[in-house]
Amino acid sequence: MTSSPFPYARIAELPTYAGKSVRVRGWVTHVRSSGKVAFVVIRDGSGILQVVLVKNSLQAESWERFATLTQETCVEIEGEVKVDKRAPGGVELGATTLEVRGTSPIDYPIQPKEHGIDFLLDHRHLWLRSQRQRAISRVRHEIEQAIRDFFYERDFTLVDTPILTAAIGERSGLFATEYFDEGNAYLAQTGQLYGEAAAAALGKIYCFGPTFRAEKSKTRRHLTEFWMCEPEVAFNDSNDNMKLQEDFISYIVARCLERKQEELKELERDTSRLETVKPPFPRVNYSDAIKRLNAKGSDTKWGDDLGAEDESLLVEGADRPVFVYNYPKEAKAFYMKENPEDPRTVLCDDLLAPEGYGEIIGGSQREDDYDRLLHRIKEENLPLDAYGWYLDLRKYGTFVHSGFGLGLERTVAWITGIPHIRETIAFPRLMNRLRP
Ligand code: 4AD
Ligand code: MG
Repeated sequence: MTSSPFPYARIAELPTYAGKSVRVRGWVTHVRSSGKVAFVVIRDGSGILQVVLVKNSLQAESWERFATLTQETCVEIEGEVKVDKRAPGGVELGATTLEVRGTSPIDYPIQPKEHGIDFLLDHRHLWLRSQRQRAISRVRHEIEQAIRDFFYERDFTLVDTPILTAAIGERSGLFATEYFDEGNAYLAQTGQLYGEAAAAALGKIYCFGPTFRAEKSKTRRHLTEFWMCEPEVAFNDSNDNMKLQEDFISYIVARCLERKQEELKELERDTSRLETVKPPFPRVNYSDAIKRLNAKGSDTKWGDDLGAEDESLLVEGADRPVFVYNYPKEAKAFYMKENPEDPRTVLCDDLLAPEGYGEIIGGSQREDDYDRLLHRIKEENLPLDAYGWYLDLRKYGTFVHSGFGLGLERTVAWITGIPHIRETIAFPRLMNRLRP
């Protein structure tokens, strides 16, 4: 078939070839036949196509090959593009030749029936081919692109921060590895500390990459490797920081609604729950949040971090994400700025997604006072020698600055409406899962 005069086309492009002959390559998803007419449905990543094979208008070898087709056989088909309003994508292909490029034994593990989640995760490399997983991948891609566009349009500079680090950013578990004669290196839990250095050089920056937490939590919100987008802005205070967050989230949601309707429909997402996501977002300070929670029966006390159940209670009835701000110092990381109006608390916020998806953003104004920061580093027993450079940012021209971290997978879970974070990334890393 390589001598064919017809061009290769992706399924999504076929409407522009109506009435013409093309070659299409893809994987078989279904076959059926009724004597002299057979149908093959193929998928090429861009779309789904029904191919019609009529015994009398096909070479004999091609007709015989039809009988060998199984799910996931990779095929190359030549034929004429025919407009058909009832067909998926609005076109069909009337085949003239059919060739098999890659056979697929009949034991393809993923069948059109219910499979258990462990089985599916063991076969993640194949599960990714399913329609639902493709829809999730596409929404994730749109969110990542929207993130980049948002910052690009606002003149932020992208700064790529290291994954191998000596300094620790957050409190949760660390992955350590030996690093030549330098002792332990830790896989980055955050790019923030480096982002702060870059903000003094470039004003408005963001980093966006994988981060790692050896958290022993088997919940639907925790991965051990997840992607985080972290902007850092010189001269933004905590209030400016929350404004940036609500604009950012609203932008991302609007982009998905604008460009990913088909995928959201495939995922049966109730998009009316996303259409209301517009600034301003409600803000509740931590102390009020505790009062509200206690009134709803939670026994969380002032000083505690909020649990998943508390977060769900706080967004009950909310039609957009909710900020909880100014948490107690002991519940949060060492770098957050002490609240001058209540030194028991720090200038920070968690943004809680509606519908029980929980915290999607953690943000704060950073401690910019050298002595207070030094004190906090000591209080947390962090290795001072690894933070000399970070303290330098407070020594040489300290500045008000704030930033936040958006967890990509939690955001994808919320926007797509899928209950568990493990389906939001191609190859999830969980406590008990390192392969495939
Ligand atoms: O609240 P976190 O720990 O904040 C930071 O890491 C800051 N350094 C961010 C900053 O100010 N630059 O994490 C930020 C977000 C969380 O809100 C959550 O969405 C996500 O990262 N996240 C996780 N996502 C998946 N699995 C995990 N184990 C996660 N831990 C945090
Ligand atoms: Mg947090």
